[in-house]
Amino acid sequence: MAIYNLNINGKTRQVDVDPSTPLLWVLRDHLDLQGAKYGCGIAACGACTVHMNGNAIRSCVMPVSALEDATITTIEGLSENGDHPVQKAWLEHDVAQCGYCQAGQIMSAAALLKSTPKPSDEDIDTLMHGNICRCGTYIRIKAAIKAAAEY
Ligand code: FES
Ligand code: FES
Repeated sequence: MAIYNLNINGKTRQVDVDPSTPLLWVLRDHLDLQGAKYGCGIAACGACTVHMNGNAIRSCVMPVSALEDATITTIEGLSENGDHPVQKAWLEHDVAQCGYCQAGQIMSAAALLKSTPKPSDEDIDTLMHGNICRCGTYIRIKAAIKAAAEY
């Protein structure tokens, strides 16, 4: 075990865990931040997506030992009041179905718009490709990302 001081959602959070513990477990089991979900555990579905230094990463495969100098943002810290442009567009377009994949989708979409503020359909297909939705909300996800790009 080792003690880590992690910068998560603008606060320093201390955890005492094995260095190989994936960030997703730290968030959910040690810090009670349960927005990011476990889907596959092998970086193949995107349900666990959070931001590391502003970039979308898969928290299920990111060991805590790699995060000491990183800034982590989870869905809980994306905005103060749930009013990030992507979150507003998601509501307007009624994107969520069961919701399981949605925190990951929103975090990937927010990172996408940061790197590509006016994405084409192709950009969205490419950059959201790794986020799987078993409810098939892809058409509404694309519409919401396009709407968020116009805010
Ligand atoms: S749970 Fe991390 S990518 Fe699927
Ligand atoms: S909304 Fe159900 S898996 Fe995406």
